[in-house]
Amino acid sequence: MTRFTEIDDLTRDELADVLTRSEELKERTRRGKPHPKLAGASMAMLFEKPSTRTRISFETGMTQLGGHALFLGPNDIQLGHGEPIRDTGRVLSRYVDVVMARMFDHSDVTELAEYASIPVINGLTDDAHPCQTLADLLTIRELTGGFDASVAWVGDGNNVCRSLIAGAAMTDLDLTVATPDGYGPGSDVLNRAGELGAVPDLTDDPDTAIADADIVYTDVWVSMGQEDERDSKLAAFDGFQITPERLGDRHLLHCLPAHRGEEITDAALESDNAAVWRQAENRLHAQKGLLTSLVVD
Ligand code: CP
Ligand code: NVA
Repeated sequence: MTRFTEIDDLTRDELADVLTRSEELKERTRRGKPHPKLAGASMAMLFEKPSTRTRISFETGMTQLGGHALFLGPNDIQLGHGEPIRDTGRVLSRYVDVVMARMFDHSDVTELAEYASIPVINGLTDDAHPCQTLADLLTIRELTGGFDASVAWVGDGNNVCRSLIAGAAMTDLDLTVATPDGYGPGSDVLNRAGELGAVPDLTDDPDTAIADADIVYTDVWVSMGQEDERDSKLAAFDGFQITPERLGDRHLLHCLPAHRGEEITDAALESDNAAVWRQAENRLHAQKGLLTSLVVD
């Protein structure tokens, strides 16, 4: 594997290996045991959109692995001033060992991967968020002991949902996706999921999705870059909010940041059912597992 632009850039075996590495690294981190597996390695992090979790977990993760990460915002390098992606990819490959990029257009990350001769990691695009899926799978396995679990996605069929669909298909996780009409995940990812093993059940009724679920997962209704659609999306998602009553005794996941009062109530996010802080922590461990798998001597 030389790129991680989507979760299914990994084979099932590679995904299992990354999750095992992540668990081992989590254990070492928790016991305070040093693990400089990437001593001397450098990672460039390109950000077109803001980030808390992705930036900090990758940056601290590289430090914990004995390496170094460079934060490069939109105004920091020539990419933000017209230098083509293909040139950026070839130049970065001469300096660093791995690139992580958070961009609007998914095709920009795949173009970067095409021209770079080093591994390229997708840190979120409009279409996909595979690093989130790694942490989600790690968290689901911790919560339920495996992947023999039922997950209900309630909300937008967005980047996080789309990568989860592919990840669920690769792990045989039982997934139901509830979105309003017109906000589904897209036929391309459903076709891919079919090829990977399983297409999720689709519905426009949140309570149907949640009925048999062990885990409820939601995300913002207005993703980064969709601010102009805010009014129409808030109207379309009326009735999809996760409340403690709707959640019942199920586990709650949310990739964060949350918009309290929109997709989720404050009480639901603050409840004991919320595994969202553990999920956020697992971004660190999952990405360290990924990095040790991608960056080899
Ligand atoms: N979940 C996630 O990717 O969060 P950030 O936008 O803070 O990186
Ligand atoms: N769907 C959200 C996820 C943020 C981590 C967005 O793209 O803004």
